[in-house]
Amino acid sequence: MKDHFTMDSPQPRLLDETKQGVIGTPMDRPDGPRKVSGTADYTADHAPDGMAHGMLVRATFARGRITGMDRDAVLGIAGVIDVITDPRMIRNPAQGMAGAAPVQTGDEVHFHGQPIALVVAETFEAARDAAQRLTVQYQAAPAAVSPETTPDTETGDPVTAGDFDSAWSAADVQIDRAYTTPSQAAAAMEPHAAIAEWQGDHVTLRSALQMVRFNKAELADTLGIGPSKVRILAPFVGGGFGSKLGLGPEAAAAAIAAQKLGRPVRVVMTRQTVFDTVLRRSETAQRVRLGATKDGRITAISHDDRVSNIDGEGFAEPVSQASQFLYGASGLSFTQTVARIAATPAGSVRAPGEAVGMLAFEAAIDELADALGMDPLELRLKNLPQKHPIDGRPYSARRLADCLTEGAARFGWADRWTAGTRREGDWLIGIGMASAARSNMLVKSSARVRLTGDQATVETDMTDIGTGTYAILAQITAEMLGLPAANVAVRLGDSDLPGASGSGGSFGANSAGSAVFLAAKKLRAEIAERLGCDAEGLTLQNGQARGDNREAALADLVPEEIFAEATIEKGKTAKSHFSSGFGAHFAEVAVNEWTGEIRVRRMLGVMSMGRILNEKTARSQALGGMIWGIGAALTEEMQSDPRDGHIVTRDLANYHVPAHADVPGDMQVVFLEERDDWANPIQTKGIGELGISGAGAAVINAISHATGKRSYDYPVLPDRMV
Ligand code: MOS
Repeated sequence: MKDHFTMDSPQPRLLDETKQGVIGTPMDRPDGPRKVSGTADYTADHAPDGMAHGMLVRATFARGRITGMDRDAVLGIAGVIDVITDPRMIRNPAQGMAGAAPVQTGDEVHFHGQPIALVVAETFEAARDAAQRLTVQYQAAPAAVSPETTPDTETGDPVTAGDFDSAWSAADVQIDRAYTTPSQAAAAMEPHAAIAEWQGDHVTLRSALQMVRFNKAELADTLGIGPSKVRILAPFVGGGFGSKLGLGPEAAAAAIAAQKLGRPVRVVMTRQTVFDTVLRRSETAQRVRLGATKDGRITAISHDDRVSNIDGEGFAEPVSQASQFLYGASGLSFTQTVARIAATPAGSVRAPGEAVGMLAFEAAIDELADALGMDPLELRLKNLPQKHPIDGRPYSARRLADCLTEGAARFGWADRWTAGTRREGDWLIGIGMASAARSNMLVKSSARVRLTGDQATVETDMTDIGTGTYAILAQITAEMLGLPAANVAVRLGDSDLPGASGSGGSFGANSAGSAVFLAAKKLRAEIAERLGCDAEGLTLQNGQARGDNREAALADLVPEEIFAEATIEKGKTAKSHFSSGFGAHFAEVAVNEWTGEIRVRRMLGVMSMGRILNEKTARSQALGGMIWGIGAALTEEMQSDPRDGHIVTRDLANYHVPAHADVPGDMQVVFLEERDDWANPIQTKGIGELGISGAGAAVINAISHATGKRSYDYPVLPDRMV
């Protein structure tokens, strides 16, 4: 049984009718015990017989051509097997989602840190030693490594609605501010890793990847073989945040080396290689202009940005994404410039666009409120548009106003005091808020559900990158089939299973979850038929089927395995309605008046993001996002050498993601009940990235409330405050 479903109309809420009490509950992750006991098998935990170790060698210049390598010198080191160069291996790590063609670089180097060779040895240590000793001859070419100095920029067509220029010039109050955000790293805890093993002309790749279906096609494309000859395994992935969306050089290198040497090869990046080589988030320069009438009606909105990327990469950080649909105005205008530089390629890092765009935009909204003498909460509530301001589509579901008011009530916003007037000893205290928004997506996804008696198995190549996929897919299946979740086994991360959306853009739960839901729905129809009742009248509970006054145990109805496969695809609704998660973030900070040290004292996020599938994993995602907000506002900054683009913050000691000491104990997340009927058949929306989108701006706005001062260059390091 196969079922192909396209989202062409609003969907009935079957998961509200099944009433098993499984969906939405804070069920523990079934994979949790394996993770905490060290038995969850991450890529680098595997060591097939005869395995050799590969270490990537990186270019130490920004642009030019490699003219030679002293291979023989390192081949003499004990345990060193080979030094492999191959243009397929040193492709740019183009992202699967972007659909960019891999750049076949040959001997050419396009950025400092680009992988240029793989040293293979009997041990990791020998490979690393030899990789460091390998002498490379090259001819360097002039290279612009920073967006300020490159002559090579492209400005796209502006996105507009109404007439910004007239609205701007007629505005009673104007805010015109420039902001900068630095390049950021995804900083996933598990370094990028791959193990390749060939059987004849078939290759099996274990790798830390987010989107197995796409990665399989990418590897086949890289190797020039048919996709049917490739199998990818990624049952556990230790965080991705965008950095594992596309096939990376470690995977290509492992596959090429394993084929050449006729034995399995494992390539694990050092943390330094991850920072040098893996896609970064672009730095941004932003200009926000807001115009309003005296009584606080926003009339003009403009958000222009400049980002960077290497030549030939299609991705550009979509900085003004949320600025285009949060508030209404009679004139809106958005432009983007991409500076082409010779630097580590830029790609999607968690909440691409909103994560950095809203840091600026929502701070500007706050500043407009100050200029108007208005409460920033009131200003936001007053300017929510009826429809998408650019394309006029209705919102599919939007509880932004409720999030703002509910959050304000819970946070004690009404007690807000005059900026810069509250102190506790040397500490100035302030509170701030910001709207949250992150557009919602659905990506084609397939899944199979098998059922024998009261035992079910879910099969899909979907990944769990720490997000809770194992839990939610078990819950959806259990809810649909009337089984305890413990009776559902979930198999993920194997490209031989039905191809899913993968994990990215917060679309994983929506897309893969919908496919599982549809497959389980097919099984319900089959069970109803066997029982002799209408599918609509079927009740499944505790392994029993009931309907039309008939009743039977699943064990009797399904004595032998049945299965169903389903595929979800976005259809007309993606065009007819605009779907986004919304929310409101609140933060309280203390700023030391002498040192500029900033401590976040409490945070609250109130969010409406469709149906919550698992209250615990959803909360963890939202909290994790809010912590990213703290990092973006206060600590995270990738720095590179202005001479050659060499990334110098390249470990987790000097690229500072918030640690426990940076995160307040009082972090609260509240979900407002919502169903998005236009989004997908399970009425969900993306969660993880909504947590980050706007959270940093709430911190930024709290700093300004505490001190009466604003910094426009993020992160707000202590020296930017004193
Ligand atoms: Mo996400 S940045 O699309 O993994």
